[in-house]
Amino acid sequence: MTATMSGIREATDPSCTPTVTATATAAIAHDSAIDWRAVKADFPIFDHEVGGKPLTYLDSTATSQKPRVVIDTLHEFYSHHNANIHRGLYALSEAATAMYEQARAKVARFIHARSSREVIFTRNATEAINLVAYSWGRANIGPGDTILITEMEHHADIVPWQILAQEKGATLAYIPLDPATGTLQMDKLDDLLTDKVKLVGVVHVSNALGTINPVEEIIRRAHEVGAVVLLDGAQSVPHMPVDVQALGCDFLVFSGHKMCAPTGSGVLWGRRELLNAMPPFLGGGDMIRRVTMQSSTYAEPPARFEAGTPAIAEAIGLGAACDYLSAIGMANVRAHEVAISQYALERFAEVPGLHIFGPLDVRQRGATFSFALADVPPHDMASILDSEGIAIRAGHHCCHPTMFALDVAGTSRASFYIYNLNEDVDRLVAGLHKAAQIFGV
Ligand code: ALA
Repeated sequence: MTATMSGIREATDPSCTPTVTATATAAIAHDSAIDWRAVKADFPIFDHEVGGKPLTYLDSTATSQKPRVVIDTLHEFYSHHNANIHRGLYALSEAATAMYEQARAKVARFIHARSSREVIFTRNATEAINLVAYSWGRANIGPGDTILITEMEHHADIVPWQILAQEKGATLAYIPLDPATGTLQMDKLDDLLTDKVKLVGVVHVSNALGTINPVEEIIRRAHEVGAVVLLDGAQSVPHMPVDVQALGCDFLVFSGHKMCAPTGSGVLWGRRELLNAMPPFLGGGDMIRRVTMQSSTYAEPPARFEAGTPAIAEAIGLGAACDYLSAIGMANVRAHEVAISQYALERFAEVPGLHIFGPLDVRQRGATFSFALADVPPHDMASILDSEGIAIRAGHHCCHPTMFALDVAGTSRASFYIYNLNEDVDRLVAGLHKAAQIFGV
């Protein structure tokens, strides 16, 4: 394919690799001067009105929109390359296998992994955490051990550890959240990080508060007591440069659908030594070396953890999303989100009765804003904004313990990404004024 799309130039790779790759984007003049309006034009969902209004999409923390290049990659794969992988002794299957494995290499490069063998495709971050809990957890956690997580975790990084702790007679402990600042109470680490802690699970950027956690310090201190660290990167990998080697974590999980890729694509990255020692999670085809009537031997990672036919097109779509974001540059993505966050905080200050949860310093936060406008119920807020074409999320954001710590049932949440512009902040603020008027705030 050679057609030029809005903001993205397509390139044809003749070597059985994806034929749609984001090698460059017209949106980028040079690294530090990006035309973000042209980036927005790469996303076809914004070509149409929703309910008679232009779409102001402020729910990328739940799932991101998809650029044309990713949508076209799926169309291209199913139209020209569809076959099962790792099994077929024919050209189509070999090409599909090459595309899938090339996507793995792209993901590895995106997070600076030492090797693509450290990248396991999952359905999402939730499945990746469950994989670690069932495989590494069952082999390494025993009675009396402690699993240490935080009050800021998503349910995906709580429930699998509860199940494991209950099964093994282990303790699940929490680094508390300071409700006043929306940050972790790091001074509690001295007491919490004992040599009984075998695993620390921590969210890199909170989906409920936007807080960027001091994960480098947590990783360093966890390693001092011999604990393994799982980083939930669902809200960091799509939004900022993430380098697993520089961070020094042991596992990183994230979801493709929050970073411009299709739903059903997710990743577990793990240090090779850890993955090599882990037993399988799911059993089935493609994860074995040999199966006899009573027992089996298993393939090396990553195949050991990818039983059955995987989400092939989705993984290839994730590879295209990595290309797309890399062409923009993750440092530029972060810079854009800092700028829009700064503008949002300035405009939010004009709204009487508006409370923002989480840090107010843009250096400590991502572009996800949980808020309360006086006592306007979050679900009413979402409905009022929806009537203006503004999509936000309302509720507990799959973070009950965070809501308990904040002493609220839920919040309203607006989240910004690469296709959002300052005018989206303006529309949100106008919607907040409308809600204030309706509720007599
Ligand atoms: N974890 C996603 C969110 O925060 C679904 O909305």
